[in-house]
Amino acid sequence: MAEFDFTATLQAINDQVPPALQHPRVGIICGSGLSGLATSLRDTVFVSYDSIPGFAKSTVAGHKSSLAFGLMGTGDGVPVVAMLGRFHPYEGHKLSSVVYPVRVMAKMGVKDIFITNAAGALNPSLAVGTIVVVQDHIALPNLTGMNPLLGPQTDPSHPRFLPLSDSYSRRLRKLVFHAAHSLSLPRDALAEGTYAWVSGPTYETPAEGRLLRAAGADVVGMSTVPEVLAAREEGMDVLVLSLVTNAVVIPGGYKSVREEVEAEIAGKPIVGVVDETISHEEVLAVGSLKGDVMKSLVEKVADLLHPV
Ligand code: 6GU
Repeated sequence: MAEFDFTATLQAINDQVPPALQHPRVGIICGSGLSGLATSLRDTVFVSYDSIPGFAKSTVAGHKSSLAFGLMGTGDGVPVVAMLGRFHPYEGHKLSSVVYPVRVMAKMGVKDIFITNAAGALNPSLAVGTIVVVQDHIALPNLTGMNPLLGPQTDPSHPRFLPLSDSYSRRLRKLVFHAAHSLSLPRDALAEGTYAWVSGPTYETPAEGRLLRAAGADVVGMSTVPEVLAAREEGMDVLVLSLVTNAVVIPGGYKSVREEVEAEIAGKPIVGVVDETISHEEVLAVGSLKGDVMKSLVEKVADLLHPV
């Protein structure tokens, strides 16, 4: 079998999913600690990645490893497929494997894809727990030879040179703010911003955080952009929501040790020394704390897509 055989992949999925759910309209990719989104589905059917030819194995703690098919929202509901757990380049997966599920979603009929992730804040005005509606991205890997669309095209009808100026659907971004309004979320629960994609698995150094901030990014993470590119190539409309789990750039942080020693010698109090270390556990904890807000927002957007 070829590495990516859509026919074999779809066959394995359709063998496990009832016909009414085989053509989802909406695709969702759940980020770290955000797989709880699956509980908003009705008539849910899970298909394990292990059982799907061409799917890799997701190896990150806090990520499940299956597709969830079901109906979301009020009334008849919208047919949805959700990825519980995604593939990252840092796990050693090829970029073509990372984006394969997105291409499969397109073949199943997905038109709108909602991608969630956990991200660090570069913009100091973003508090932990804020959900950022992503409006653009900066992807240093894409600019330097780590672009998931490098190589032979998977479909000759796709554009060879994909424009990315309108990658983040204005229609879907507006729906998020309408959804937040009807849920009576406080204004600062949501923000708009630019996502910086880095390869990971290391978190940024403070200086790298400042570099990305100076370049105009508001949040930083290790996922999402490869899937966005494939989704755009496949003609889908894209919505990305980033949950801020920690601060990367800290105002007043990173004071010099010389000043600290001089203060010690002079017997003065030391001020402004900030020592912040991020851990994956912290990222998951914020995910489970704020996952419900993300979930109700996504449910409401699905409702607004298909008014009852
Ligand atoms: Cl601080 N950096 C990156 N690259 N990804 C993250 C993060 C930080 N926090 C959550 N995900």
